[in-house]
Amino acid sequence: MTAEAQEKTPRNVLVTGGNRGIGLAIARAFVAGGDNVIITQRSGEPPEGLTAVRCEVTDSASVDAAFTEAEQVFGGPVEVLVANAGITKDTLLMRMTDEEFDSVIDTNLAGSFRCARRAATGMIRKRRGRIVLISSVVGLYGSPGQTNYAASKAGLVGLARSISRELGGRGITANVVAPGFIDTEMTAVLPDDQKKAYLANIPAGRFATPEEVASVVRFVASDDAAYITGAVIPVDGGLGMGH
Ligand SMILES: NC(=O)c1ccc[n+]([C@@H]2O[C@H](COP(=O)([O-])OP(=O)(O)OC[C@H]3O[C@@H](n4cnc5c(N)ncnc54)[C@H](OP(=O)(O)O)[C@@H]3O)[C@@H](O)[C@H]2O)c1
Repeated sequence: MTAEAQEKTPRNVLVTGGNRGIGLAIARAFVAGGDNVIITQRSGEPPEGLTAVRCEVTDSASVDAAFTEAEQVFGGPVEVLVANAGITKDTLLMRMTDEEFDSVIDTNLAGSFRCARRAATGMIRKRRGRIVLISSVVGLYGSPGQTNYAASKAGLVGLARSISRELGGRGITANVVAPGFIDTEMTAVLPDDQKKAYLANIPAGRFATPEEVASVVRFVASDDAAYITGAVIPVDGGLGMGH
């Protein structure tokens, strides 16, 4: 923990899908900042040094149980929610099944809604809160083969902005962080030609690390970002410029 971290009151932070990829980097960044952190995961043992609760974001009862367990461990409500859990099921529009569309929307968009709804109860009581929804550059930029994913990630913008309007007067902010191409298991499966096409369009000329997303999420959740709400913050090396 840094000296700066020690001076601040730790907050209770819940990161969904914090067992790997971007979520894990986010969880570790909050721990490094001195906060109390719980991650959600669906199976297996938690990564070293982290506390986990089970959560399936497509199931409201599971989300409720995860928050209740986290609140017991924290000894108080969740003050920072990072809704990060997400999936892709890529295929072209005309081949996409209802199941492929619905399951991506249910996980990425409705899952974030379920978590934000559950988190709001405690945040309203505390009159403070930070809701950070992990979207994607694809949400506003569009992407062939990702109609389901792009729709789910675009939906997060409306979700965050409406939460901002509902709860902004209660010390609660809701923002969207929109990563571009980040090196994780999710992107490892993309075909090489698609990766090359992305790279050619990224002004920064490279992909990002999960840690580069995590530091922006931490800032948006900080006291310094109290007047930022309903914003879409890109972390995409310029890929989505102008969206
Ligand atoms: N990687 C990128 O380039 C990129 C770019 C833009 C946005 N994003 C977004 O960033 C977030 C994290 O991506 P990532 O690359 O770190 O992905 P990842 O490595 O595939 O990890 C996804 C995480 O979400 C969890 N998850 C998936 N479905 C879930 C469900 N139904 N209930 C609960 N947890 C569930 C996974 O849990 P399990 O371990 O149990 O599967 C895992 O922890 C996602 O929302 C993604 O859309 C990623």
